[in-house]
Amino acid sequence: MVLVSGATGTNGSEIVRLLSAAGVPVRALVRSKAKATAIADLPGVELVEGDFDHPDSLEAALKGIDKAFMLPPFVNNMVELQHNFIEAAKRAGTKHIVKLSAFGADPNSPIVLGKWHGQSEKELEASGLAYTHLQPNGFLQNLLAFAQSIATQGTFFQPAADAKISNVDARDIAAVAAAVLKEDGHEGKTYVITGPEALSFSEVADVFTDVLGKKVTYVAISPEEFKASMLQWGQPEWLADALNELFGIYRAGYGAVVTNVVADVAKKTPITVEQFVRDHATAFQSA
Ligand SMILES: NC(=O)c1ccc[n+]([C@@H]2O[C@H](COP(=O)([O-])OP(=O)(O)OC[C@H]3O[C@@H](n4cnc5c(N)ncnc54)[C@H](OP(=O)(O)O)[C@@H]3O)[C@@H](O)[C@H]2O)c1
Repeated sequence: MVLVSGATGTNGSEIVRLLSAAGVPVRALVRSKAKATAIADLPGVELVEGDFDHPDSLEAALKGIDKAFMLPPFVNNMVELQHNFIEAAKRAGTKHIVKLSAFGADPNSPIVLGKWHGQSEKELEASGLAYTHLQPNGFLQNLLAFAQSIATQGTFFQPAADAKISNVDARDIAAVAAAVLKEDGHEGKTYVITGPEALSFSEVADVFTDVLGKKVTYVAISPEEFKASMLQWGQPEWLADALNELFGIYRAGYGAVVTNVVADVAKKTPITVEQFVRDHATAFQSA
């Protein structure tokens, strides 16, 4: 049996669905069973309550589990939370952790997101457990945050200038994760997961325009404007600063790498921006 953490979230819920459909028994780690109705009745899925903040709950959830998917929540103590998970896995006798990491993860990264994920990768590598690191670029699903703005005003805003970025659909990340969780042979591997194309947000806006049949415009904003709008929306300052660092790396051209991991590992054709917009057209038309 495999354990999937973050099972109510974007990646985790899709991984649970894929493993269930493939007949792989899954224990889905959730903070509250009441919030997990979307996956509760899937064949072969059992729910267990647990919290990365509570190591004992993780150890109990991991008992009898050979392989676990570790999805660190996007919080500023994510290194400590992953330490809790790795230590609990060791105590529980889990053999292999598949870590959701991030593009550019490195303990020496100049940006905190890369640094935090990189620190946890190194801790996992030193733990004695088998590991696989999944390093996705930005998720296409992030565009859903602009659904209302695109639907009502035909605009979206990012501090990305004209950087080309190989954003990836989380359904493809989940397909890679599901393959790694159900097959042998991925131990010690690091997979950089990207979309099939690197587009600027102006090019993404053109895709929206074509698919939705109405003009959609990308507005390049400054890091200062981005931070001010994040704070205005009630987001914490550390998050605004972390994302601004990330966009700085993108503006410097580091986000354009395209890999074949989705095709090679998940054996599927990667989802394009056009397909993503088609699949979510209703949200972008009527949010
Ligand atoms: N967004 C991007 O572009 C991007 C790119 C690369 C890497 N990443 C990485 O992807 C990860 C986020 O993945 P995602 O978007 O699939 O997640 P998500 O949709 O934000 O979902 C987070 C999941 O974690 C659970 N969770 C939160 N705090 C928890 C805790 N203390 N204990 C146990 N579970 C907890 C949530 O459960 P509840 O339902 O209980 O809240 C939820 O299931 C982060 O590590 C981020 O750095 C993101």
